[in-house]
Amino acid sequence: MANKRILCVGLCNLDIIQVCGSYPLEDSDQRSNRSIWQRGGNASNNCTVLSLLGAKCELLATFSDSEHFTFALRDLERHGIPIEKCAFHKGCEIPLSTVWINEATGSRTIVHSNLNLPEIKVEDFARCDLSRYSWVHFEGRRSASEIAKMIETVRIFNTSEDHERIRVSVDLEKPRNTNLLLIPNVDIIFLGKDFARFLGYDNSRDAVHGFKKSYPGKYTAICPWGSSGVSALDGDNKYYSCGVYPPAVIRDTLGAGDTFCAGCILQLNKQEPLQAAIEYGSKLAGLKIGDYGFDHLQQKLHQLV
Ligand code: FRU
Repeated sequence: MANKRILCVGLCNLDIIQVCGSYPLEDSDQRSNRSIWQRGGNASNNCTVLSLLGAKCELLATFSDSEHFTFALRDLERHGIPIEKCAFHKGCEIPLSTVWINEATGSRTIVHSNLNLPEIKVEDFARCDLSRYSWVHFEGRRSASEIAKMIETVRIFNTSEDHERIRVSVDLEKPRNTNLLLIPNVDIIFLGKDFARFLGYDNSRDAVHGFKKSYPGKYTAICPWGSSGVSALDGDNKYYSCGVYPPAVIRDTLGAGDTFCAGCILQLNKQEPLQAAIEYGSKLAGLKIGDYGFDHLQQKLHQLV
């Protein structure tokens, strides 16, 4: 188990971040306080955090020969994140997010584009030798029916008894109905605030209870709700919750949710109990938002014990 990897399946994109004193006015021309280029995308960020925490992980995403991907590829290498099974497409643009971080409120506003880069397909996933992984984490993307097929592949793999079962998690974040295709055969569902709101919930406790009532199953639902804390219901519908651990100054909330998921996965993959896992994820996300990007997490890990 210890030698096996955590595979994160989803997006790798470029984030161009402007840190502003206040949210920019439309049709204005103004200076930001800082600008940052960063490799982003949920699965890519999950891997960044896992690698900084010393976990064995791997990214399955799509890339192209666009020169802008060189930056992301170098950064993946710098973090020691394997990408050997990724799909490379010719002549496609890099998915790009422009992000405004408002220093006054800590909010991050993301405008994302993906012009023509295809998403990961079940054929790409089939290149992965599943015996190498202890955990596979999926991002609920537009191509939900493809992702559902990948989850089914893992389910079939898990029916054989001569190896350890792979655990499967999915991050349902974006407000779209197709996320519901990704409920069957997963062990952990991360229920993002935007998706939970889209389903009609206005707090994490109601979200986990309501979601599991509407879509019953043996899975664990975990719902982080910004500064209001985290709720979870395990496979037996036992309720867990924890608070948040904000730093004195909030600098960068971009990827806080991805950090939370990575922290929970790391702990659950080590067979830690659910309560300990959500506490760890919450503390890790608190550390993340205290500074820009993710690399500072490595120096601050001692604060988590
Ligand atoms: C943060 C993030 C960014 C990316 C955007 C894509 O969660 O992964 O890095 O630009 O979301 O939706």
